[in-house]
Amino acid sequence: MKTVTSVKALREVLSAVDSTGIGLVPTMGALHAGHRSLVERARRENATVVVSVFVNPTQFNDKNDLRNYPRTPEADCALLEAAGADVVFMPSVEEMYPVPDLRQYDFGRIDKVMEGATRPGHFNGVAQVVSKLFAMVQPARAYFGEKDFQQIAVVKSMVAQSGFPLEIVECGIVRGDDGLALSSRNALLDAAHRAAAPDICRALRLGAERAAGMTPAELADFVTRETERSGLLEVIYFQSVDALTMQQVAAWDESERIQGCIAVQAGAVRLIDNIRIK
Ligand code: PAJ
Repeated sequence: MKTVTSVKALREVLSAVDSTGIGLVPTMGALHAGHRSLVERARRENATVVVSVFVNPTQFNDKNDLRNYPRTPEADCALLEAAGADVVFMPSVEEMYPVPDLRQYDFGRIDKVMEGATRPGHFNGVAQVVSKLFAMVQPARAYFGEKDFQQIAVVKSMVAQSGFPLEIVECGIVRGDDGLALSSRNALLDAAHRAAAPDICRALRLGAERAAGMTPAELADFVTRETERSGLLEVIYFQSVDALTMQQVAAWDESERIQGCIAVQAGAVRLIDNIRIK
């Protein structure tokens, strides 16, 4: 495994490999088994696996969140070596943004709801950094987790608008034994909120099971109540949305595929999760 920090070194390493066989896994580090599942899938499907580890400042709408975001570069490299990555790209902020990135994206209705509505500028920053990574690595395939369900829709729209010739591969959510979706931010939870956090997944699973007997509005009330039962978690939103457009449905027959998406405030930490409802 080679670790590179500059775009020049990255291009030098990749100039020696077949570009049709490059798989990219973009991450912000503090890696866990969810990230590892993406790298392992990329390993199975590509001759060369590149993983980027970069805490992207432009996608943080909250300065404290950026400052507190966990950073564990040594452990990340050990995990990536074990998972079979070939190249780790760990650039500095100056390397990724030698000049300010002034691009403003518009993803139509996709980025105006849920994470887009509650984290202004977040998806614009995601699109900026992911488009840069695609230009630098030029992968044939790029791997994203359904944990960030809306992010996949945004990235697909960015790819379609920009014309990057690559495939976006969607990977399922990896959860802990207690159901909590693995997230780098879980490490920031205090003991009480960590103990309450599995209520999110429990509420989603229960809601998905019972959804057919409720309207989408009733399901939102139900999931909110179940999630908040400890008194420690606060639901920011729960929405049942069309899986392609991210628009809320008012009835289950409005869409072929419906995903229930939730954001929760757990003390100082903001968590997201989602589940397929239809
Ligand atoms: P990060 O939160 O580090 O996540 C990197 C990738 O891992 C994302 O595609 C995310 O969906 C996936 N992932 C995280 N937790 C997962 C889990 N429990 N199961 C499956 N996949 C999981 O998402 C980002 O970074 C950034 O926005 C990025 C795309 C790197 C751009 O900066």
